[in-house]
Order: sequence, then structure tokens, then C-alpha cells
Amino acid sequence: MKHLLKMADLSPQEILDTLNLADQLKYELKIGTPHPLLAGKTLGMIFQKASTRTRVSFEVGMYQLGGSALFLSANDLQIGRGEPIEDTARVLSRYLDGIMIRTFAQQDVEDLAKYGSIPIINGLTDYAHPCQVLADLMTIREHKDTLKGLKFCFVGDGNNMANSLIVGCIKTGMEVAIACPDAYRPDADIMEWAGKNGKFMCTPNVLEAASDADVVCTDVWASMGQEGEARLRREAFMSYQVNDQTMAAAKPDAMVLHCLPAHREEEITASVFEAHANEIFDEAENRLHAQKAVLVQLMGKK
Ligand code: CP
Ligand code: NVA
Repeated sequence: MKHLLKMADLSPQEILDTLNLADQLKYELKIGTPHPLLAGKTLGMIFQKASTRTRVSFEVGMYQLGGSALFLSANDLQIGRGEPIEDTARVLSRYLDGIMIRTFAQQDVEDLAKYGSIPIINGLTDYAHPCQVLADLMTIREHKDTLKGLKFCFVGDGNNMANSLIVGCIKTGMEVAIACPDAYRPDADIMEWAGKNGKFMCTPNVLEAASDADVVCTDVWASMGQEGEARLRREAFMSYQVNDQTMAAAKPDAMVLHCLPAHREEEITASVFEAHANEIFDEAENRLHAQKAVLVQLMGKK
């Protein structure tokens, strides 16, 4: 693994290696064993969108690994005034040991990797959110002991989360069912890949997708950058909610995931959210451990 740009870049074995290392780092942290595997290394974190989990977990993760992290708001960088990505990539490669970037266009992340000479990590684009999906897979495995053979259901917008979950879940041997309105399906390349590579369905019928699911997952109806469409989306997604009916269709012991932030009574009811809060906040915690594993693999001694 040279970069983490999207889930498609990882082989099934690389995903499992990352999850195993994440489990180990989580255990070491719990028992108080220091692991300064990135001593002296610096991660730059470019943010063009807001963040709570991604920013804090990467920054704390670098600190726990003995390195440091720089928060770089795109508004304060020259990128915000039009300096090209290819120049930014070459300059930052001279100072830093790795870059995590949260932005809009996936192409910007791909270009950073193309023109830079250090590892690049996608901290969310409109197309993908691979760091979140590694944490999600880690959390499912923690709660269910396995990934292979489980049925994963996603209800809602065919967005960055849906795109990355589809690839991550199929690569780890899960069956994937997406429930979304026809106009909000996951990206065409993902749909095509999933149709060819896994047990996959995408349906407008929530109960069909949730039927016998081991994991039920959702995300906001309007993602960052889509605030202007919020009202339109609320109408389109009105019936795409994780609620008691959805959970009744799933297996009795089904778990619930939400990458957060959550909008109660929109994509998920407050009661389902609270009934599964331990799983959802384990998922949030695991961002830290999963990302530390990614950082060590990309920036540690080879
Ligand atoms: N789930 C997630 O990426 O959260 P933030 O937007 O707070 O980073
Ligand atoms: N789909 C959401 C995920 C937030 C972590 C967004 O892009 O805003």
C-alpha cells in the first residue's frame, strides 16, 4: 500500500492486515504499551470541509505514534487562492512525511498522490471515505467476530459512504444491499464493479434491502457541500430511514452503524440510534485505531 485514496486501491489482504494491526494498536493503547512507530514524522492534514472525528483522531493518532500533525485549513493555504495541486504536492512533499486531505473532488486527491512523493490519505471526498470504512469493518468484526458471509445493508444516499462501503464490504466477503431512491444511486463505476464482484443488490425498497441483515448502516441525506439541496433531499429520502420497521426486517441481533454526524428523525430515529449507541460510538472510536494502522503502514519503517 503506497497511498489510501479509495477502497478499490486495497487488496482484500491489505484490508485484513490493516484491521489486524488496528486491533493490535487498540489493545496496546488499552494496556498502556507505548508504540512510537512514527517518532519524528509529521503528517499534514488539509481540510477543505469541516470535521470533528477525522481531524481529532488523526491528530491524536500521530501524537500517540510519537509523531506530530499539522492542521492546514485550505482557506489559509495558497490552494485556497488558486495555487495548483501539483505545486502544492511537490512543495509539501519536501517538508512532510505524509498528507491527509479532506476535499470535494476525488481527482484532487489522486493528483496530490500523482505529483507528490509522500503517502496521501483520503480523509473524505465527494466520492469516497475509505478511513471511515476501515473503522466500520473493524467495528463489525469486533461485534460479530467475522466479516465473511455477513449481510450488510445501507439505507439512504448513494454517496461517498455508500461507494466505499460497497467496495470494502464486498472485498471482505460480505453481501451488500443498498436501499436508495433511483435518482440517488451510488456512482456508476461502483455499481458496475459490485455487480461483477460480489453478492450485491441496489433497490428502492428499504425492507427488501434490510431483510435478514446483520449490519444496518445509514448516513446523512445531505452531505457536506449539498446544503443547498437539503430541502429537496429531505423529500426524496423521507422513507429512507433506519427505524423500528427497518430493524424488524433485519436479523434480531443486527448491529447499527452511522459514521456521524447523525440527524435524528431524518436518516435514523432517535430510539434506534440510542439503542445502538454503543456500536456507533465504538465505530467512532475505531477511527483512531484504524487510521493509526494506516499511518504506520504508509509512513512507518518498511
Ligand atoms: N465520520 C466523519 O468523518 O466525521 P467528521 O466529519 O467529524 O470527520
Ligand atoms: N456523507 C457525509 C459523511 C460525513 C462524514 C458527508 O460527506 O458529509
